Amino acid sequence: MRVLLLGGLALLTACSKPSSKPSGGDLTEAFLVSPDESLRVTFARSADGRVSYRLGANPGEGADSAATYILPSTLGFELEGLGRVDSAFEMLDVVKSAGNESYSLPWGEVANVNADYGAIQLSLKHATTGVSVTVEARLFDDGLGLRYTFYKAPNREALGSDTIRILEELTGFRVSGDPLVNWGPGDWNSYENRLEFTPLSKIDAKKYDDRPQLISRVVPNNAIMTPASMRLADGTHLSIHEADLVDYPEMTLEVMPVGEGLRSTLAGSQNRAAKAVRALPFSTPWRTIAVEKRAIDLLNNHLVLNLNPPNQLGEVEWFEPTTYAGVWWEMFLGKGTWDYASGQSAAGSAGQAESGVSKHAANTANVKRYIDFCAANDIGGLLVEGWNTGWEVWLDSAARLEAFDFVTPYPDYDLREVVAYGKSKGVDIVMHHETSGVPERYEQQLDTAFALMQALGLHIVKSGYVGNYPNGEWHHGQYGVRHYRKVFETAARYEVAVNPHEPIKPTGERRTFPNAISGEGARGMEYNAFGDYTQVNQPSHLPGLVYTRCLAGPFDYTPGIFNLEMDGYRGPDDEVLSTLGGQLGTYVVIYAPIQMIADIPESYLDPDGSYHPAMPYLREMATNWDETYPLAGELGEYAVVARKVRNENRYFVGGIAGDRDRPVSVKFDFLPEGVEYTIDLYADADDAHYRNNKKALSITRNTVSRGSTLDLTMKRGGGFGAVIHIAEARQD
Ligand code: NOJ
Ligand code: CA
Repeated sequence: MRVLLLGGLALLTACSKPSSKPSGGDLTEAFLVSPDESLRVTFARSADGRVSYRLGANPGEGADSAATYILPSTLGFELEGLGRVDSAFEMLDVVKSAGNESYSLPWGEVANVNADYGAIQLSLKHATTGVSVTVEARLFDDGLGLRYTFYKAPNREALGSDTIRILEELTGFRVSGDPLVNWGPGDWNSYENRLEFTPLSKIDAKKYDDRPQLISRVVPNNAIMTPASMRLADGTHLSIHEADLVDYPEMTLEVMPVGEGLRSTLAGSQNRAAKAVRALPFSTPWRTIAVEKRAIDLLNNHLVLNLNPPNQLGEVEWFEPTTYAGVWWEMFLGKGTWDYASGQSAAGSAGQAESGVSKHAANTANVKRYIDFCAANDIGGLLVEGWNTGWEVWLDSAARLEAFDFVTPYPDYDLREVVAYGKSKGVDIVMHHETSGVPERYEQQLDTAFALMQALGLHIVKSGYVGNYPNGEWHHGQYGVRHYRKVFETAARYEVAVNPHEPIKPTGERRTFPNAISGEGARGMEYNAFGDYTQVNQPSHLPGLVYTRCLAGPFDYTPGIFNLEMDGYRGPDDEVLSTLGGQLGTYVVIYAPIQMIADIPESYLDPDGSYHPAMPYLREMATNWDETYPLAGELGEYAVVARKVRNENRYFVGGIAGDRDRPVSVKFDFLPEGVEYTIDLYADADDAHYRNNKKALSITRNTVSRGSTLDLTMKRGGGFGAVIHIAEARQD
């Protein structure tokens, strides 16, 4: 049985009951050590009643100091009408305990999680206002979570009601030194920004503030989004994020004066000063600090999931992880249209198929053609965008308010026939609900829209929120957070899994609602088709995603573009800055239980009409895993990951190079002892180049076993993917 050291007391985890309960308002310090004794969090109350926490390595036996990761950082709030509640605290009570999170994931990057933690609760009373708040921390071996709870009875008098109105949360994250940070701006309305990798002191996020846009970029402070990941001077990596974000604005991290690190600043609203308004009792989301020695291990850190409530939906057998194709990229290429009307008028225009044929992409015949492509290539889903009426006006400021109803197909799209045809071939249509950025209208229609899906036996929807909300709220404020949660909850009742674009960032809700399957919330593949070279994702973007957005949860990046030059459709300057090897590696490095095979079917064919030799890899691409093995990587630079396919003796390994050629040595220590495997490797050829030789791919078959090493060079903007089978299974 493991023994936890709690503030000098030994406590047995298995029978943990609150252990120490000193009394009085004069407590000054309490600490907690992680179950493996590697981390320590210490809470202290200073003479002026500020309560701070600090996080660091736990000094070993006999030692009196160890590395500090987060220097003493204050806790508190600014409340409407009451001012700052961040000093003059009395520490009334300290309760310590311990616990364990042990659960399986119906789908995921791992099958099971099992993590012990130590816990502490501090009951604080603010002497000046009389406001009471409980600070709760859980310390795992790989990170810290902390949150605040406001109870009703002790606060009614101080607040004058049962409602709390929060102007700002003042949680400090005084990271030590001037770490190198992988960051994106703390934008209240869109995550579709460039990602940077700079010292903390060099962060300039406000340059991204750019209001008058279809989706305005709203960066009022020099603040960064979470997850934000950083490397401290001693090589330790931290990633700051939040868990269980419910009915509260998202947290961004304001860059404080040098030495002061970061501090929470919440996304706001144009309608009121208070950023969060909640009836009591309520708890804030957990503020999470993942701690890993190696950057790549952040990909296997489950702190955020651990701090979410258990699964409420069970096994969700109705949702099957899968690859999916889409009647989608053809619209970005300009080959097809989302809307029906311009599809008709454009029929026969230059570059199109037969004259007189509609360019409206979501027509029955075209969709069936895509279904055939999916069926031929073991692709289980097909997204169809532009299937429903409204796309003629969806960007019009007034008409967009009532553009979509999510149940009325265009006249050339026989929804039922297409769904039945797909089902006959083992391909399920992935529904599409573009809300044109009007959550209220969507909320009115959720039941009708999901009931239609249920009646058709469809279980996945991609949603979208292009446009500023018309009601003065931003996507990431409390209003937006509430909306996205409501959609997950409503969809669950109809056995529908949701993949929101222009979403709120994930904070581990997939543990509680495993129908929260994926989402956007970053610059995805679509930016490579926006035609403006400055908008295109640079080679550093992918590793940036891996160590920021992807740490929050599954990401619908939509990889798999094979026609990387967009030949035949777009101008000479339009291109995806990637090699084919990079596209293939992305499937393994970026985790999601649905992964798009995003290009148009024609792009997967060679000039002679046969499928591209990399197609077997995509055909057997898995999207559900038993284990994830982070192999190598550095913040902002590159990543190499292996994963074991769920319930199968099959593995994938993938890497992405980032902004320079990257030699890597892949060690197969993740394979079981004494078994020989066949590896099919799809890697950048020696002469591959992300601009002028994108498709140069080397495909080789070899034998590997535990202990083998594979040396290869991922080219700038490139990478590799490999599939590993037990040797006998591949004697073809
Ligand atoms: C933006 C989404 O990210 C993209 O995937 C989608 O095609 C368009 N909105 C239209 O809904
Ligand atoms: Ca988008």
